[in-house]
Amino acid sequence: MQTTDTQITPFAIDVLEGLNLPQKAISSKYFYDAKGDQLFQQIMQMPEYYLTNCEHEVFIDQQELICETFGAFDVPFNLIEFGAGDGLKTKILLRYLMEKNADFVYYPVDISMNILNELQISLRGMFPNIKMHSLNMDYFEAIQHLSALKERRNITLFLGSNIGNFHFNQAQDFISKLNHFSNPGDLLMIGIDLKKDPEIIKNAYNDPHGITAAFNLNLLHRMNRELDADFNIKQFKHVAVYDEPTGEMLSYIKSLTDQTVVLKELDQSVSFSEGETIHTEISKKYSLSELELLAERCNYRVVHHFLDNKQYFTDTVWECE
Ligand code: AVI
Repeated sequence: MQTTDTQITPFAIDVLEGLNLPQKAISSKYFYDAKGDQLFQQIMQMPEYYLTNCEHEVFIDQQELICETFGAFDVPFNLIEFGAGDGLKTKILLRYLMEKNADFVYYPVDISMNILNELQISLRGMFPNIKMHSLNMDYFEAIQHLSALKERRNITLFLGSNIGNFHFNQAQDFISKLNHFSNPGDLLMIGIDLKKDPEIIKNAYNDPHGITAAFNLNLLHRMNRELDADFNIKQFKHVAVYDEPTGEMLSYIKSLTDQTVVLKELDQSVSFSEGETIHTEISKKYSLSELELLAERCNYRVVHHFLDNKQYFTDTVWECE
């Protein structure tokens, strides 16, 4: 296959590779262009997507205990947040910390510049004296960058079940890397969706409003726009399948017919047979014992699992050993 080498972006490189795999695949990190950000905001407001409300409840009801567990008023610290997004839940903690005069610097990390800008504007409005530095980069770049922050205790947040977008082994690699750059006593808080009645999970990713479908299929629009592709969106369908033993909700874009798509920017044509899929996302659900195994493998000690009332979701706090 031939490609032109002009203006090749990371998205173009990954699409080129992903659409040539035996199981076609594109990383879910490419969901988050401006339209994708907007659709994800709508997902978080849907009743079926219970994750956001559950985590919000944990932060509202247990903010005091969370800050105590962080030792937030004992020593100065950096509060680093991977995948900060709109900061909805973090704002609850930030308000509490600001009101109680905690000495901290907030580092929101997000791959979406749009979202970071909005977050920065809203936080400066809410807390004019907040010390913050936004980092517009992916998680792995951010780990490198943050490894220089050694003068204060680091408390890292990874909320919103974002770690669920990795397979268990990838999560282990990522958290081990984070551990490698951490000091003993540094803390990590992971917000993650728990295994539960599969019907509840399936409804969250197959919502009746079609918002999750639009979110997934937006990847096709993005390729049309950025790679001059000619995907006919109507000829594809959103599919999300839950694998109960592994707790993996797997999302795909399925071709409804035999068809060939041209991606002019890549000088490529890609054929799909009827029923063939592009794998686009994994949203893994954990049990508490799996989380404890993950902590142990990454050299962390579990300090506390904060849970919502329904026990659908946990914000688990680990200490670097
Ligand atoms: C961002 N991430 C944790 C969401 C999830 O649940 O995996 C993205 C999402 N995909 C479909 N709905 C929401």
